[in-house]
Amino acid sequence: MRVIITGGAGFIGSNLIHYLLKHRPEWELINLDALTYAGNLENLKACEGNPNYHFEHADIVDQDAMTRLFEEYKPDAIMHLAAESHVDRSILDPQSFVRTNVMGTQVLLNEAKKLGDSFRFLHVSTDEVYGSLGSTGFFTEDTPLAPNSPYSASKTGSDLLVRAANKTHGMDTIITRCSNNYGPYQFPEKLIPLMISNAMEDKQLPVYGDGKNVRDWLYVEDHCSALTTVLEKGKAGEVYNIGGNNEWFNIDIVKLILKSLGKSEELIKYVTDRPGHDRRYAIDASKLEKELGWEPSYTFEEGLPMTIDWYQDNVEWTNRIKTGKYTGYYEEQYGKRLNS
Ligand code: NAD
Ligand code: TYD
Repeated sequence: MRVIITGGAGFIGSNLIHYLLKHRPEWELINLDALTYAGNLENLKACEGNPNYHFEHADIVDQDAMTRLFEEYKPDAIMHLAAESHVDRSILDPQSFVRTNVMGTQVLLNEAKKLGDSFRFLHVSTDEVYGSLGSTGFFTEDTPLAPNSPYSASKTGSDLLVRAANKTHGMDTIITRCSNNYGPYQFPEKLIPLMISNAMEDKQLPVYGDGKNVRDWLYVEDHCSALTTVLEKGKAGEVYNIGGNNEWFNIDIVKLILKSLGKSEELIKYVTDRPGHDRRYAIDASKLEKELGWEPSYTFEEGLPMTIDWYQDNVEWTNRIKTGKYTGYYEEQYGKRLNS
């Protein structure tokens, strides 16, 4: 099995590569990543030298580069994670989200189509395509798509292109939609790593609005095991929600982090709300559990302390991002990053 993983230098992609090299050691993995600000090859230092791991520095929007790489590797499947992924950035610069998330996905579909029926395209999407919930109910795979941010709108666009490839050309495509992930190697612009890192430095913790927005958190390794299950056992043309039934108010997570680190709640600073801020996400993952037999392995009570420990043990990893030093590691080897 030879699998292209796009976005393998990002948060979930690098965790997925570690997971697969451990749990599917016979698979050959090609990490295809443009190394934007979010791509960090330091996440994958431990994989260097593994004969079943290859890195290709390439932009998924570059059709010629994708053609060359698909012809060279002749993969059996793709796990497509490369994306612009941060809602706040999408509000400031929607264009780059349309470019990578929509156009880049179509470029990959063009290459996948050439490989015929035996090639499987796993598109890694997000529950944010369903929009926002009130205080009750859950997102199922049949919930209408109603994205509210440029990020989720661009992911919805990519989902629809993947669906169309299956309906129009009969391609073997599958879409997964996961809830918020947390764990090692998450870029410290997202809620949990930002709050851990700021609390450790006694900096203010910016909480948007009233702090009562709800997110449904899944430990990243559980997302990786779900993606592996779907790639191996999922049905072509289907959508699978992924989640761990773990809803939290943002403010309660922030307080938990402060308590774990022995810091004062006085560090909390309520700031102006994010425009169009989705109120609540909650995933019903029963289709994946019942049809494919997947279940999460970690509770939040296990995963959050593991994550806090990881950031405490890897202060240098976060510092190298905050000071921009992490870019040097790969610019020496691979040249300039995308959009740098
Ligand atoms: P991330 O921002 O940490 O990583 C994205 C990676 O994609 C980076 O390595 C970046 O260099 C690469 N990339 C960006 N543009 C590219 C391009 N044009 N060509 C090639 N590579 C490019 O993102 P993440 O949090 O790891 O998310 C991965 C995927 O999972 C995304 O598709 C996201 O929508 C989805 N997802 C994320 C979450 C979450 O909580 N983080 C939840 C559900 C779904
Ligand atoms: P984030 O990690 O950006 O993920 P998403 O917006 O994709 O769910 O944010 C998670 C929640 O935390 C979201 O409701 C916004 C909120 N948030 C803050 O309150 N302060 C922050 O500094 C950040 C980054 C997020």
